[in-house]
Amino acid sequence: MNIRQATPGDREAFIGFAEKLSGFNRKNHPDASKQDDYQAVLAAIRQRAAETFDSPCEDTLILMAEESGQPLGYALGRIYEEDPCADNGTGRTGLFDELYVDASARGCGLGQKLLDEIMAWFASKGIRRVKLHAYSWNTTAREIYKRNGFEEYAVSYEKHF
Ligand SMILES: CC(C)(COP(=O)(O)OP(=O)(O)OC[C@H]1O[C@@H](n2cnc3c(N)ncnc32)[C@H](O)[C@@H]1OP(=O)(O)O)[C@@H](O)C(=O)NCCC(=O)NCCS
Repeated sequence: MNIRQATPGDREAFIGFAEKLSGFNRKNHPDASKQDDYQAVLAAIRQRAAETFDSPCEDTLILMAEESGQPLGYALGRIYEEDPCADNGTGRTGLFDELYVDASARGCGLGQKLLDEIMAWFASKGIRRVKLHAYSWNTTAREIYKRNGFEEYAVSYEKHF
């Protein structure tokens, strides 16, 4: 298995993974949360993924994981300027924004390798604080993040009525 920086030829695989990550997340949310038109949501996700991919910038890193040329997963890290009013610190911050490994390739260490490489990139850019967001139900991902030293700092709530 190989991990490398995305190239222009990875555009469709990248967009496809963003779509799969969205589908994975949606299927784990209760139906009551999803009062929307999924085709429109999907189109927006594809469009945002395409824009990200088509506008490479030195503060964004997209990594692809593959075996024998077959894409198996991806990760995306960004560096951004935190809200100047943020209560828990401002300034340039890393965001570990997206991580997805195909179900057939899970449990082989790819997710961990993608995380390690994105974190090494942040460090190489002088970033010493990285945030990420995970859904409460995603215990697999939360355990991986916790084991990698990430600590919970916020909780989101919602109510349907
Ligand atoms: C989260 C995800 C990327 C992990 O990828 P992966 O390649 O399976 O992870 P790895 O094989 O590198 O496993 C990393 C660690 O997590 C553990 N782990 C993996 N899957 C697990 C599971 N289902 N339950 C418990 N532990 C698990 C592994 O044992 C490993 O621990 P170790 O280093 O002590 O051996 C993958 O499950 C995935 O794509 N899930 C769907 C999308 C998702 O949840 N993305 C994250 C959004 S926040």
